[in-house]
Amino acid sequence: MPSLNSFAKAPLSGSVRVPGDKSISHRSLMLSALAVGTSEITGLLEGEDVLATAEAMRAMGAVVERLGDGHWRVNGVGVGGLKTPDDVIDMGNSGTSTRLLLGLIASHPITVTMTGDGSLRGRPMGRVTNPLSEVGADFMARDDKFLPLTVRGTATPVPLDYTPPMASAQVKSAVLLAGLNTPGTTIVREKVATRDHTERMLTAMGADVHVQETGGDRIVTLTGQPELKPITLAVPGDISSSAFLLVAASIIPGSDITVENVGLNPLRTGVVDALKAMGADIELLDQRTLGGEPVADIRVRYTGLKGVTDLPVDPSTMIDEFPVLFCAAAVAEGTSRFSGLEELRVKESDRLAVMAAGLKANGVELTEFDDGIEIKGVGGKVPGGGTVATHLDHRIAMAFSVLGQMTEKPVTIDDASPIQTSFPSFTSLMTGLGAGLNIEG
Ligand code: S3P
Repeated sequence: MPSLNSFAKAPLSGSVRVPGDKSISHRSLMLSALAVGTSEITGLLEGEDVLATAEAMRAMGAVVERLGDGHWRVNGVGVGGLKTPDDVIDMGNSGTSTRLLLGLIASHPITVTMTGDGSLRGRPMGRVTNPLSEVGADFMARDDKFLPLTVRGTATPVPLDYTPPMASAQVKSAVLLAGLNTPGTTIVREKVATRDHTERMLTAMGADVHVQETGGDRIVTLTGQPELKPITLAVPGDISSSAFLLVAASIIPGSDITVENVGLNPLRTGVVDALKAMGADIELLDQRTLGGEPVADIRVRYTGLKGVTDLPVDPSTMIDEFPVLFCAAAVAEGTSRFSGLEELRVKESDRLAVMAAGLKANGVELTEFDDGIEIKGVGGKVPGGGTVATHLDHRIAMAFSVLGQMTEKPVTIDDASPIQTSFPSFTSLMTGLGAGLNIEG
């Protein structure tokens, strides 16, 4: 298990591109595998999570080829055309692959057994198997809700009208994807709007998808059994990966960086608003549209951040960015308080507990609550010197790599390997900008 040593070194400077957006990459492979014809994708994230999706789509009959760096070609089987794989499919660490694919499989008359790594096998699947059972699929899962799990999709799916009990793009997408091979109209009513990449991509591929906002609800309606047109898609850079760089440049004195070509879907940009609320100097340059998504270059210059107790941001718009925001709060001046974050407990790790443990190990004072955390910022370098247990969670590893840039003593991260799931070039990109990071072992 390679560990990672993170230490204060230099201001960050330069321009970089982060890899393609993970959410869009997954969906591009899944939906082009269901199109009629050949799709071409560039800028695909080649992290382990997305590679797990590629392998699964191959196992279910699509022709998925890598033509070059981030350049992929997919020959789809058409909606309704998925086949039963020859073997168990291994989803690795990827909750998005697992939950979205369960949706697709639910309305195909095929049988699939899935497993994953220790983190994924601990994550709740009831949130998708419950609505998908109503579609007509059968599930047999460990303790009724965990992987390994076998799903037997139905030949006679029933369209759902479903209100997810939690804010989750994965649950919404699973239900919509089940609706693809279901006759009639599938409806998802969101109490809180979540990332809408599925809706956007389905629309671009010719499906009949409508979004209506009424009385605070966001209602998505999909007409089943479309013929999906193939796509030519350039995947924008991942805002969730960029967040590590945005925070690093905001807290390391003297930094000035630009992250180019970042996807700025309005349901994903909470971290920019949160950092601005803490006093960050962030400029969006050359705002444009790429692959049906808003994109810009983001310039960040160091400013001393201030703590924030009343974040003016909906948590669902930055759900994956809280670990690194907590690190920003530890370095900021004054106390920060974050709440409404119970969903963080069911991510790749229990991110409230794991962040609290890692921050404490590095001398940060905090209080953990059921749904949040209060962090006492020191207004500069934190003590550091601690070892962080990542619990197979990429974002924990990267968040503490950023914190270590502003600690008196180096921070040790017990396992760097989870970074491969979403941001394989993270350490080389960070060191290229001037950060102090060493992989050991
Ligand atoms: C994702 C949705 C989010 C996010 C995950 C990717 C997606 O999960 O945390 O990294 O691509 O739909 P939830 O829907 O569980 O919040």
